[in-house]
Amino acid sequence: MSLGDVDGVVALQPLCFPPPFDPSLLWQREHIERHLAVFPAGQFVATVEGRVVGSASNTIISEEAWRAHAPWEETVGGFMIETFDPTGTTLYGLDISVDPAFRGRGIARALYQARFDLVREKGLTRYGTTCRLPGFHTSGVGPPEYYADEVVAGNRTDPTLTPLLKMNLTYLGVAMDFMDDPESGNSAAILEWRPE
Ligand SMILES: CC(C)(COP(=O)(O)OP(=O)(O)OC[C@H]1O[C@@H](n2cnc3c(N)ncnc32)[C@H](O)[C@@H]1OP(=O)(O)O)[C@@H](O)C(=O)NCCC(=O)NCCS
Repeated sequence: MSLGDVDGVVALQPLCFPPPFDPSLLWQREHIERHLAVFPAGQFVATVEGRVVGSASNTIISEEAWRAHAPWEETVGGFMIETFDPTGTTLYGLDISVDPAFRGRGIARALYQARFDLVREKGLTRYGTTCRLPGFHTSGVGPPEYYADEVVAGNRTDPTLTPLLKMNLTYLGVAMDFMDDPESGNSAAILEWRPE
């Protein structure tokens, strides 16, 4: 990602996180610019004929911050990623967004490959992230950890957790009261990948 991609990255956000997701939680220009300033090597885009059709934002957090599995705001230090720690152990995935018109073509897989390559390059312990469960609220299954277990077992498909599990991520459990996200029951699945 470079500064010239920022408008394209910001434009993807409402396409990828439509209501009822709270629009005030979407990345704005100043947030993406800050990520590029703090950790340029951790920001990726996928382009088709110069147009941004996918993006992946990352930070690095300490081992303590990863293990705490605290709410999103505290883990990453908010939109401005104030907990970025260049000496940390964990490449933390803040967001992956693929334009709906370009889904199912391997773009998320390619962005994930870039993340894994960066973990190896920097000698980090892991890639870690937390994943929305947008299918939870209409599933009739509760609480969220039961729903996530069903998705992990392959008994249900979730539009976000199912594709992320295909990236070889290991499911570690569910963080409750993680962020304001009614579709996911305000929870998120905790996922990690470690290099061989
Ligand atoms: C999740 C998302 C990033 C996937 O992007 P994508 O480019 O379509 O994914 P890919 O084409 O690389 O597919 C990866 C794998 O997931 C599978 N997959 C993709 N979407 C799927 C879906 N809705 N249901 C089931 N499987 C799906 C693909 O079949 C593929 O598996 P395979 O390689 O074994 O065939 C995209 O749907 C998106 O932007 N969603 C909205 C934003 C979001 O929720 N981001 C994550 C926040 S935690």
